[in-house]
Amino acid sequence: MAALPYIVGNWKMNGTRAMLNEARAIDRAAARFPKVQVAVAPPATLLYRTRDAVELIGVGGQDCHHKESGAFTGDISAPMLKDAGADFTLVGHSERREYHSESDADVKAKAEAALSAGLAVILCVGETESQRDAGDAEAVVGSQLEGSCPRTDGAVDKLSIAYEPVWAIGTGRVPSVEDVAAMHASIRARLVAIYGDAGADLRILYGGSVKAENAGELLAIPDVGGALVGGASLTAESFLAIVGAA
Ligand code: G3P
Repeated sequence: MAALPYIVGNWKMNGTRAMLNEARAIDRAAARFPKVQVAVAPPATLLYRTRDAVELIGVGGQDCHHKESGAFTGDISAPMLKDAGADFTLVGHSERREYHSESDADVKAKAEAALSAGLAVILCVGETESQRDAGDAEAVVGSQLEGSCPRTDGAVDKLSIAYEPVWAIGTGRVPSVEDVAAMHASIRARLVAIYGDAGADLRILYGGSVKAENAGELLAIPDVGGALVGGASLTAESFLAIVGAA
């Protein structure tokens, strides 16, 4: 049976307690869309409260440390996310890869730590504009997957991939339907190479300037199993329009 489309809001470094009203509104409305799986990844400061504020939707972290505990000031471990009520965490978002110099090996270690803490994982990959212009997009993403996909037993059961071209994030620019289809097919082939038949069932989300206006078209592309939404997830109204399009 095909998995439900998965629509995930990544709030990034946005939101104070007032944002809980948006979470509540998203949660209430999610009941109207039983054929869509909905989740939000609030900043860590709101994780507990978001968990308490919602009933239907998933709640996740945006990153985790690869160790369980220790002298890592400012970091948050996967068991801490789990304890705060997270169901999943993002790892490898391009903003982490760029601003925190996270390598594929770092991302793999984080994904494995999250899985062993009982969290599902959304692992993000994507090429820069210059890599796409050079014709290297699929090779870059393939190599990111090779280096950052978790290899622990059972990893495949709780893993989703998010393809987020860096140049599409927050820019209003979106790749063509053909380019998204080609990239998702290439990601699918790589996942099957890594995980065998189980790789054929992993959900591959698209992220990067997803809005209500383009969500229907993007989500209709073969192998696009959902969307990871940044800016448009910050109000219930704009996020729910995307959920509705799914
Ligand atoms: O993780 C979601 C993200 O990077 C896409 O952001 O604002 O382009 O939807 P946005």
